[in-house]
This record gives sequence, structure tokens and C-alpha cells, in this order.
Amino acid sequence: MLNCAVLGATGYTGAELTKLLLAHPHVRISLLTTRQEKSIPLREILPSVSKKVKLEITPYSFDAVKKKADLVFLCLPHTEAMTAAEQFLAAGKVVIDLSADFRLRDKKIYEKWYGVNHVAPQYLSKAIYGLCEVYKEKIKKADLIANPGCYPTGPSLALIPLLKAKLIAPNSIIINAASGVSGAGKKLVAATQFCEASENYSAYKVNKHQHTPEIEQTLSAAAGKPVKITFVPHLLPVNRGILATIYADTVPKATEAKIRKALEAAYRQAPFVRIKPAGQYPSLKDVQYTNFCDIGVSVQEGTGRVVIIAAIDNLVKGAAGQAVQNMNIRFGFPEEAGLS
Ligand SMILES: NC(=O)c1ccc[n+]([C@@H]2O[C@H](COP(=O)([O-])OP(=O)(O)OC[C@H]3O[C@@H](n4cnc5c(N)ncnc54)[C@H](OP(=O)(O)O)[C@@H]3O)[C@@H](O)[C@H]2O)c1
Repeated sequence: MLNCAVLGATGYTGAELTKLLLAHPHVRISLLTTRQEKSIPLREILPSVSKKVKLEITPYSFDAVKKKADLVFLCLPHTEAMTAAEQFLAAGKVVIDLSADFRLRDKKIYEKWYGVNHVAPQYLSKAIYGLCEVYKEKIKKADLIANPGCYPTGPSLALIPLLKAKLIAPNSIIINAASGVSGAGKKLVAATQFCEASENYSAYKVNKHQHTPEIEQTLSAAAGKPVKITFVPHLLPVNRGILATIYADTVPKATEAKIRKALEAAYRQAPFVRIKPAGQYPSLKDVQYTNFCDIGVSVQEGTGRVVIIAAIDNLVKGAAGQAVQNMNIRFGFPEEAGLS
């Protein structure tokens, strides 16, 4: 059994991850931690767990985590995770970081978009971006896995095969994505309070969202040249799920059949990516509470523009589920263990 610790277990991704790890056949939760001063019974945070589960979320102690865990999951706010990651890597642990602190390879870009100095820049080039279906071979050997962001996951999976096959014009990409409110985490923010979010639908951080450079970095690697995108996030009044509607110009030889074929070929062996048949499109209901990413495509006659829809659950494939998938790949467990 692999001994795991979850830091930030009281938050949305930490609680979701704890739930998945409890059901995982090859791991033992050896520690769940909080910044708070008193221990919290896990059942207070996760009321759905069995009465038999006696786990507590305990005040954070570096030494306790170092002693008890081989794998450390960081479910901490970005800018808070990098110090912990550096310490646990120095102590010889494997770290899966759900925050954004090690996703960007360029320190200057991180500091521009996240507004703080990076305290562990020596790990930026060593971290492996944990987009499981694309970087599996590198993940197998990684000691620091930067779990992808919730918004970047669906569009990256949808666009990488099309950029690699040169079926779309790289600099024509527009991503409109809507996220459920849990995407903003548990902390109190005016915009995500019930009266603000309920019965509303609004764009935010237009051209300014911190996931923009992460998506551009991934797509640039696939295209083999710098890619710039337009990314417009929206807040959708549902608890969970992200549906991204992506627009791009196709190249003259590209047809809808070729685009679907490229996606199907890329993900034939991938247990969690499902390509919809022609005329069918993803919906949040199909992916909520699952680790699936569903993708649908349509090429518009006349304009030659392709519309690609990608849907995930932000807390599962966009966070905790993808983290478990990364752990499975890294430690040689079946990729679907604890996720099916
Ligand atoms: N929500 C999503 O859909 C999603 C998806 C992908 C990635 N992520 C990333 O995953 C990380 C965790 O996100 P989340 O949504 O789980 O956040 P969250 O619900 O706000 O939980 C974060 C937890 O971290 C702990 N924490 C430690 N230091 C903190 C500090 N200085 N300020 C605030 N909290 C602190 C808190 O627990 P205590 O108060 O008990 O210490 C808190 O419960 C973030 O980096 C986020 O960007 C989130």
C-alpha cells in the first residue's frame, strides 16, 4: 500500500481527493492536514463517508507528513504550495501539486500572472505537467507532477491532436468556457456567493485569466511554435463542471471527418477521453462526478470554422481525479484504479 498525505484536505479539491483515495485499492491515507489549530473529524468535511472511517484532519506538521507519507498531494492555494513542494522534494517525497505553482516553465511568466516571486524556480523545469493522456511516459518517472488547471484540461485535450496533425490554424483559437462555482474554491468571495451567482451567467477576467499562459504553453508544445489564444471564462450557477466551447479556423484540407479521426486516434487507448459521434455534443450531466473528458466537434460549412466542445468535472478530471490518475501512472497502478 502506498502511504499518502493530503495537505489542504478541508478544501474542495482536498475533500474530493480524500473521497477518491478512500476508495482506492492500492493506497492508505496516512495523513490529512489543515492550517487550523484543532483536528477536524473527516466526517464533518465529508458527511458521506462510512461511519467506520475514523480519520481526522490534523493540524499541519512537516515532520509528521515526512514521517508518514511517501506521496504528498498539495491541495493548497496557488502561491502557498511552492514552499511545501520544495521541502517535501528535498525530503525525497513524490509530490503531486494541484495548484498552479509548477505548471508554467518560465519563472517570469509565472510571476507576471500570479503576482508573486517564485520561491522554488529550480523545480520549474523539472516538474512534469500532469496532463495524463499526453505526458504519460514522463509522468512515470516524475517526482514533481504539476496537475493541470481545471480550465486548461478540456481545451488542451481537445486541441493537441488537431495542432499536431496541423488541421487547424494555431493562432485562430478562441476558447469560451463556463465553470461551476466550486471552481473558485471554498474561500469566501463576493462573486461566488449565492445571491450573486444564482440565476446569473457572467464573464470574468476576460483576456486576464491566469490559465491563459498555461493553455498557451501546452498548445505551443503541440504546435511546435508559439500559440496565442483568446480565452473568456464564465461563471455558471451549477456546483461543478466546466463546458468549453472552442472555435478555430481549419486549414483547407481539413474536414470534420478528418478532425474526428485525429481525436479518435489520439484517445483510442485513453480510458477517460470520449469522442462523441457526429451530431452529438458533450453536456455537464454526462461528466459530473466522473473522470471523463467528453469532446464533440462540428465543422461549419461556408466558414470552414471548427467548433469543438469539451466537458469535464472541474473537481474530478480538472483536479482530484486527474491527480489520482497521475498517481496511478507514476506508481504503476492500473490507470483506472479508484476512478471507475
Ligand atoms: N476548485 C477547483 O475546481 C480546482 C481545480 C483545479 C485546481 N484547483 C487548485 O487546487 C488548489 C486548491 O483549490 P480548492 O478549490 O480546493 O481551494 P479551497 O477549497 O479554497 O481549499 C484550499 C485549502 O487550503 C488550505 N489552506 C492552506 N493555506 C491556505 C491559505 N494561505 N489560504 C487559504 N487556504 C489555505 C485551506 O484549508 P485550511 O483552512 O483547513 O487550512 C483550504 O481549505 C488551488 O491551488 C486551486 O487553484 C482547484
